Amino acid sequence: MDKIRLTSLSHGSGCGCKIGREDLSLIIEHLPAMKDSNIIVGTATADDAAVYKIDDKRALVQTVDFFTPIVDDPYEYGQIAAANAISDIYAMGGRPLFALSIISFPTDKLPMSILEEIIKGGVDKAREAGIEIIGGHSIDDPEPKYGLCVTGIVEQDKVVRNDRARVGDLLILTKPIGTGIISKAIKTGDASDDHIKEAVRVMTFLNKGASEAMVEVGVKAATDVTGFGLLGHLYGMLKGSGVGAKIKSSSIPIIQGVYSYAKKGFIPGGTKDNLAFVEKNVIWDDSISQETQYILSDAQTSGGLLISCPKGKKETLVDLLNEAGCLAVAEIGEVVDDKENRIWVN
Ligand code: CO
Ligand code: CO
Repeated sequence: MDKIRLTSLSHGSGCGCKIGREDLSLIIEHLPAMKDSNIIVGTATADDAAVYKIDDKRALVQTVDFFTPIVDDPYEYGQIAAANAISDIYAMGGRPLFALSIISFPTDKLPMSILEEIIKGGVDKAREAGIEIIGGHSIDDPEPKYGLCVTGIVEQDKVVRNDRARVGDLLILTKPIGTGIISKAIKTGDASDDHIKEAVRVMTFLNKGASEAMVEVGVKAATDVTGFGLLGHLYGMLKGSGVGAKIKSSSIPIIQGVYSYAKKGFIPGGTKDNLAFVEKNVIWDDSISQETQYILSDAQTSGGLLISCPKGKKETLVDLLNEAGCLAVAEIGEVVDDKENRIWVN
């Protein structure tokens, strides 16, 4: 039997297939306002996870994330989906407690051994994060999908939000980018084994250490870089915080091979949408190529944390991130005073 290519079963273009943020936020805006006074973080600021007060000191952090296969190895797919879902707890400065799984699987098209591998990948990654998957829901579906709903806990005064970036803060990124572009090349069978291996290493790496480091130094603002790309998530943070940013593109860590795939045209649809969305707010230096514009907008799966760190805390943070073994500890720019939330990229 030929090796089963899981990515050939997913209809999307290599980034898990989210619905455009403009489409979705329009629907959410039209809903009646939320009235529950225990909500600390809801849908208003497009943050990474919901935060809900449970007593005077503590709050629950909850998130859900799932997607179609972005790699062909079922065990790695399960690991990536779990690392990605748990990351939204880490982005809020929370500690995960447990998870539930969401599974879609074509039982008539694929052997159950594939599903077993996917689930095993998820369970192993969750255990690495120190939690168990204690329930879930599954449906028979032509297209495989897998992910987790994760519940975590956080001290209310330690919640790290995406609307607390302050002028003068330095922007630190904890993983290299480019996994969307590599995923696109994987889907068409054009990615080299080395590049696949590196992308999988990046996507399965937990943001646990990065999160613990930022909580320890008392950072107030961060987000994780996922479907909207580096610039998209940066813009979300700037808009929520009422500020702008200056970014130095040469200091942004990029996975090896990504530039050449971009040059050959392996650009996921989601990445093109991201660039079209964020472009109105970006001022590119003339030296920035079209490929770099795509890479900075590339839809990531299980990307790193983008931390807005007060200048005085930067050295301690950088030390702790290095100690935690983060895949990148890159200072990529700084937060500036700009009510229009523009991003200058040079
Ligand atoms: Co997120
Ligand atoms: Co998410």
